Amino acid sequence: MIIAIDGPAASGKGTLAKRVAAHYGLHHLDTGRLYRAVARDTLAAGGDPSDAGAALAAARALDAKSLDDPDLRTPELGEAASLVAWHPEVRKTLLAYQRAFARRKPGAVIDGRDIGTIVCPDADVKLFVTATPEERARRRYREFKDDGIDVTEKEVLADILARDTRDENRAVAPLRQPEDAVLLDTTNLAIDAAFRAAISLIDAAMGRAGRAG
Ligand code: DC
Repeated sequence: MIIAIDGPAASGKGTLAKRVAAHYGLHHLDTGRLYRAVARDTLAAGGDPSDAGAALAAARALDAKSLDDPDLRTPELGEAASLVAWHPEVRKTLLAYQRAFARRKPGAVIDGRDIGTIVCPDADVKLFVTATPEERARRRYREFKDDGIDVTEKEVLADILARDTRDENRAVAPLRQPEDAVLLDTTNLAIDAAFRAAISLIDAAMGRAGRAG
């Protein structure tokens, strides 16, 4: 059982994916953390995230045990992750880990930008989670404030718009809604309501898949 959840930055897909995984008793992988960890290691080695060679070296040496690092959520690493994610060689290197994770029993919920399109095109259910940029900025700003990170809501919105543009316009595996994905717009939904909506969409999609198969 594989559930693919894609969507733009701060759409709520990460929180949803975690809760959906707990609900169905599946493993969960937040693939944004892979790109953030590559960005962290590139910078730690004195490299430039825009430099394909430096980012590729970090991707090849990535230690999966370091993915739990709480510092991966900072705005700087979000920005740098979006830069390392631009390099096709980096994406290719991270693909094997993601596909192996998807094969774990009894199944996995994987969230990111290209899960339904590239990583797991045969996923049993595909969800595309979105919200307006303003609402996403509001949510992310509140999270940063709670974590004591000093940014303004305006800066967060500018960062989100820049990241959307970069993630949607890269040549390889750009962010886009897979044709066979179900859309979940969380703009007017608090997290509990979004979770209930996700479960009913997934149950309905699994029911359809069951009848088809
Ligand atoms: O979801 P996030 O904010 O943690 O993702 C950080 C960056 O990583 C995002 O701007 C683009 C990149 N990314 C990607 O290219 N493909 C994925 N499957 C996940 C993240």
